[in-house]
This record gives sequence, structure tokens and C-alpha cells, in this order.
Amino acid sequence: MLLRSWWMVGVLFLLGLALAQGEVDPREEAKRQKQLLLETAGILPTELIVEQGKELFNRKGPSGKTMAECDFGLGKGVLEGAAARLPRYFLDTGKVEDLDSRILTCMTQVQGFRPDQIKRQEVVAIAFYIASFSTGKPIQVRLLFPQERELYALGEKLFYARSGAKDIGCATCHVSYMERRAGVLPFTDVLGKAKAWTHWPAYRYSNDQIWTMQDRIRACYGNLGHPQPALYSLPILALELFMAYQNNGAVVEEWPAFVR
Ligand code: HEC
Repeated sequence: MLLRSWWMVGVLFLLGLALAQGEVDPREEAKRQKQLLLETAGILPTELIVEQGKELFNRKGPSGKTMAECDFGLGKGVLEGAAARLPRYFLDTGKVEDLDSRILTCMTQVQGFRPDQIKRQEVVAIAFYIASFSTGKPIQVRLLFPQERELYALGEKLFYARSGAKDIGCATCHVSYMERRAGVLPFTDVLGKAKAWTHWPAYRYSNDQIWTMQDRIRACYGNLGHPQPALYSLPILALELFMAYQNNGAVVEEWPAFVR
């Protein structure tokens, strides 16, 4: 308890410091960086990756099929708005899948790749491509199947759980409780108001990396001083479904996004 209080004091102090120094609005700064890159390189990294993803999408797998043979939730080959409706339950696998895991399913079950042949960077590039068809679309996930409701409940539990030496959880940093005390921190409220769900997949100019929501959540587990759950694992999917549901109705400004 004592430890936690001191830790919180530390966080509030640092946040206060950042605000006092008039730290630039992260959204404005991202826009500026984007413009800068566009002027120097002539093309955005996001556009390059989407192009790579498109090539991979249209590449034939060992079965001779391209990814156009796969159903991302709205029917075979339909990409328009599909990513904005994930995660969802799929009858063919009997599982709730997000964009990343559905891409894996497609590559293994339809295209005939072995799991060890699939590179993470390829999955992310394909995710960028598929997500690009959801720009301007509202997030619309549902809790229709019992599997979806169970996973949502797990996600909610994980989001509010506290653990580790610091005794903190996702909610410690990400609900508006912090916002009230430390001023406006648009990136910290991930449950709807800041529409955080709509920021990922994204290109991060601070470290020149491409991340999906799975990578974002894993990095935040690092903040918890907690072992990171594996990619495609249940805790990640559960948190994704929980946060996506909280963001229902938010319109995707641009996928893939361009963030710090
Ligand atoms: C110690 C504080 C802290 C904890 C604990 C934490 N995060 Fe984060 N999280 C951050 C910060 C800071 C950022 C923003 C990083 C940036 O803007 O570069 C962030 C970003 C995010 C984002 C992206 C938000 C956006 O608008 O782009 C999501 C989603 C997220 N975290 C989810 C989680 C989940 C899920 C957990 C629990 C497993 C968690 N976080 C735990 C500090 C934390």
C-alpha cells in the first residue's frame, strides 16, 4: 500500500512536470512528424507497409490460394470495414479471433503455411493492409456468442486487476481517475473517451516500428513489471475485446495510424 502510494506520487510528479513544461500535444506532434516525413521521403512508412501487406495478401500460399479466399468476418474476401468489427467469434475455428490471429488462421488453414513459416512482420504488414479498409468506419464489436461474453469478462477482470511489486494494473494508468488529477492526458483514457482503440495498428515514429494492438498491449504489460503474455494468447485477446467493446461507435480516423 505504502509502495503503491509512493509510486503514484512519483507518476503524478512526472506527469505534472511534463505538463508544466508545456509538453506538446501528442496528436499535434504526430501530425508534424508525419508532415516532415512526407516532405523528406515523399511517401509515408504507413503507405509503404500497406503496399507490402497488399502484396503478401495477394501472394499464393502452398495451397495455391491467396488471402482473398479467407473470411475476415464479413464473408470471403470482404475487407471493407472488417477490421473495425474484430475481435469476433468465428464458427469455423470455434474461437474468438482478432485481426492478428485471424490472419494466422487464414495463412495456416487456407493458404497452407506451416506456423513456423510465418513471420511476425508479415502478419503486421497484412494487418496494416486489411485495417486500411476500415478508415472512416465505426468500431462495432458485439457480445453475441457465449465465447465472446466469456472473453469479455476475462478482459474486464484483467483490465482492473492489480499485481506485481508496484501493485498496479491497466486501470491505474488508463482510466479517467488519473486524468482528473493530472490534467488532460488524451492518450491515457483507453476506455472510450479518447477512442484509443482506433489508434492501432500504427506506425510509431519514435522507434520506427510497426505495431498492432497486440504489440501495444504487450508493451504495456512491461509497464506493469509483469511477464508479457505471448502474442495471440488469451489474455491479449480478452483485453482487446474488452477495450474494443468500450470503444464501440468510435469512428476510425485513419488505419494504420501514425503515432509517437
Ligand atoms: C504505468 C502506466 C501504464 C500501465 C500500468 C499500462 N499502461 Fe497502457 N499506456 C501507458 C502509456 C504512457 C501509454 C501511451 C504511450 C505513448 O503515447 O507513447 C499507453 C498506451 C496504451 C494504449 C494505446 C492508447 C492509444 O491511445 O494509443 C493501450 C490500448 C494501452 N496502453 C493498454 C494497456 C493495457 C491493456 C494495460 C494493462 C495490461 C496497460 N495499458 C497498462 C501507460 C500504462
